[in-house]
Amino acid sequence: MKGYYGQYGGQFVAETLIPALDELEEAFKAFKKNKAAKEELNRYLKDYAGRPTPLYLAKNLSNQLNINIYLKREDLLHSGAHKINNTLGQIILAKFMGKKRIIAETGAGQHGVATATAAALMGLECVIYMGEKDAERQRPNLLRMKLLGAEVRIVKKGSRTLKSAINEALRDWVKNIRTTHYLIGSVVGPYPFPQIVAYFQSVIGREARKQILSKQKSLPDAVIACVGGGSNAIGIFSGFLKDKTVKLYGVEAGGEGLELGKHSAALTKGRPGIMHGALSYLLQDDDGQVSLVHSISAGLDYPGVGPVHSFLKDSGRVKYGVCFDDEALEAFKMLSQLEGIIPALESSHALGYLIKNKEDFARKTVIVNLSGRGDKDLPILEGIYV
Ligand SMILES: Cc1ncc(COP(=O)(O)O)c(C=O)c1O
Repeated sequence: MKGYYGQYGGQFVAETLIPALDELEEAFKAFKKNKAAKEELNRYLKDYAGRPTPLYLAKNLSNQLNINIYLKREDLLHSGAHKINNTLGQIILAKFMGKKRIIAETGAGQHGVATATAAALMGLECVIYMGEKDAERQRPNLLRMKLLGAEVRIVKKGSRTLKSAINEALRDWVKNIRTTHYLIGSVVGPYPFPQIVAYFQSVIGREARKQILSKQKSLPDAVIACVGGGSNAIGIFSGFLKDKTVKLYGVEAGGEGLELGKHSAALTKGRPGIMHGALSYLLQDDDGQVSLVHSISAGLDYPGVGPVHSFLKDSGRVKYGVCFDDEALEAFKMLSQLEGIIPALESSHALGYLIKNKEDFARKTVIVNLSGRGDKDLPILEGIYV
């Protein structure tokens, strides 16, 4: 069925949005066939964003853990995270559709910054919705968005995090559908968004596969990525999904513990439900209300997950686990001090999972997707380390 991964995905939206989703689907199909548009994107990815990103053998960390660890360095991209792959792609797609105004939601602020960056580059008007709680804990990114010329609308309703920001962005889109492209930042939302974002992030997996084959002459034993909505994870996994010998691990935020309200591990502790236009694993209470969630990292603090991951969980192709706040902080410190790389707290969850399960990965070759850099997290870390 169109727009589904097994039973997950779909378009659970108000009728007013269907024509916009149809228009987007058609434009995306045309984009994929359009040589000039794809060349334009590849040129910006290379000369502006800084692709290909290196695949770095982290020797000190490898020696410490007795694991052969490669880091896919998405943290080195312009604006600091993998999010720029998707925003450059969707901005060119929006131009292709003749849209003049871009709206987006943001949690950690990386997607907001990447959207504001690409909108500035292409000269499009840009409005970003951000929850009040996230705006407080990701101040550097709030300032960056404003400097880049975007209008940031702080959402004070609901959870005051990513979930509320998406609700407001969807409301804006319904009102301004003719002029506006809603640039979703992860593989969530109604079809065709999950497909579009996965397509623009698949460059991570394509590069990583080629790079490991060139460096090692063999495929890795495992690939690990953190999962918020799931875009960096599906981006790198897509390069290895068909390689049955490569084990894939998605790491969710275990927060302060696995009681409802203290974590955001939708795949580990949720059940199928509908939110933001799609059916997917979702954290809900006994009455089916979407639960409040927690993670030390704003980019993982989301009660749902992209439908593709729900499918990959049920099919058993990807194993999903959790990393708790304190384990992510420990990993953050370890990478900073052993390799001189300050990772985003989101990416620290992928590393934290590797560290706590190090016996299972002993002497294996593992690629960890380092989805972003940690500068944005300094306000959170200030209270802990300084
Ligand atoms: C650096 C970084 N990594 C990961 C994520 C999680 O998003 P996704 O699961 O879509 O990759 C975010 C989200 O803001 C992020 O900023």
